[in-house]
Amino acid sequence: MNILVTGGAGYIGSHTIISLIDNGFSVIVIDDFCSGHIEAINAVSKYENNKIKVYNGDFSDVDLLEGIIKKYKINGVIHFAAHSLVGESMDDPLKYYKNNVAKTILLLEFLKKSGINYFVFSSSAAVYGIPDKTPIDEMSPLNPINVYGSTKLVVENMLGSTDRAYGFKYISLRYFNAAGAHKTGFIGEDHNPETHLIPKVLKSVAIGESKAVVFGNDYPTGDGTAIRDYIHVDDLSYAHVLSLKYLIENEKSKSAVFNLGCEKGYSVLNILRKIEEITGKKLKIEFAGRREGDPAILVASYKKIKEELGFEFKYNIDDIISSAWNWHSNHLNGYIKV
Ligand SMILES: NC(=O)c1ccc[n+]([C@@H]2O[C@H](COP(=O)([O-])OP(=O)(O)OC[C@H]3O[C@@H](n4cnc5c(N)ncnc54)[C@H](O)[C@@H]3O)[C@@H](O)[C@H]2O)c1
Repeated sequence: MNILVTGGAGYIGSHTIISLIDNGFSVIVIDDFCSGHIEAINAVSKYENNKIKVYNGDFSDVDLLEGIIKKYKINGVIHFAAHSLVGESMDDPLKYYKNNVAKTILLLEFLKKSGINYFVFSSSAAVYGIPDKTPIDEMSPLNPINVYGSTKLVVENMLGSTDRAYGFKYISLRYFNAAGAHKTGFIGEDHNPETHLIPKVLKSVAIGESKAVVFGNDYPTGDGTAIRDYIHVDDLSYAHVLSLKYLIENEKSKSAVFNLGCEKGYSVLNILRKIEEITGKKLKIEFAGRREGDPAILVASYKKIKEELGFEFKYNIDDIISSAWNWHSNHLNGYIKV
């Protein structure tokens, strides 16, 4: 089975390619490297004995897509490619609607025309906005509070309509906080700018600064800092394999939306203490005001994906931080080695 992966040079995409190949799929990547890394592709390619095919280009480029399907029979698509900086999405909303929504329409049109019916979409907990209960299940109200979250919700709505109208089958995975790195230490998280807590602090420890800024310590939580749900990127990757298998191998498969979190909440201070424990370094912690639009608690219920796809976690928070530390301590400048 050939799977087209958009955004395969990115953080989650590069880890998922390994899960796909290890589970018997062949992978064709399209990436324009706007936030992805050729070094990630090279590392995965080496690890998997050159089994991936990579196209440098835009996922909505119909000529490029035509060329790919002339060469390979594509059985399904995983669509990771997107812009995903919340702050930037508020400052430059059209950039986000163009890349995350308008281009996805072109991709879906192409897939419909080409009879490629199976699609896995990278959605986000950002579609929920400020939740009214915890843990959040898939029936919770959808009220994104930033442009990034809105773009994800528009695509989810489009997918619902394409299923109803054309029988297009999809699974939308609403990730909570992806974190950690592959067990080999060859690939890991390298966003620029880095806005995620774990990589940001580990990077600072790796370069000898050991600084951490905590946004808000007056939330209604045990220690006053915000609580989040972290999922190891390799567990997340495997959920994509399960989703594709379900769609492709099951004649009666139905489109679905699933949360992907661990149903375990860790406060920012809990995470910082774990980082100190695992790296052996004391952090210089600074407290700043709350960031606009940051909910107090974001914890997922993952009951639905567990029951419907048999998904189980392999990794816990210690594995997440240790694997991320293994990556950051050996890649002080991310993919650019020192
Ligand atoms: N990292 C998280 O915690 C998280 C949480 C929720 C949802 N998501 C979603 O998961 C997906 C992957 O996230 P990530 O952290 O791996 O991001 P990333 O930025 O590392 O990867 C995105 C990849 O898409 C590529 N890309 C973007 N626009 C493109 C285009 N028009 N054509 C071709 N390639 C393009 C980039 O070059 C990059 O390689 C995104 O859709 C993101 O919104 C991520």
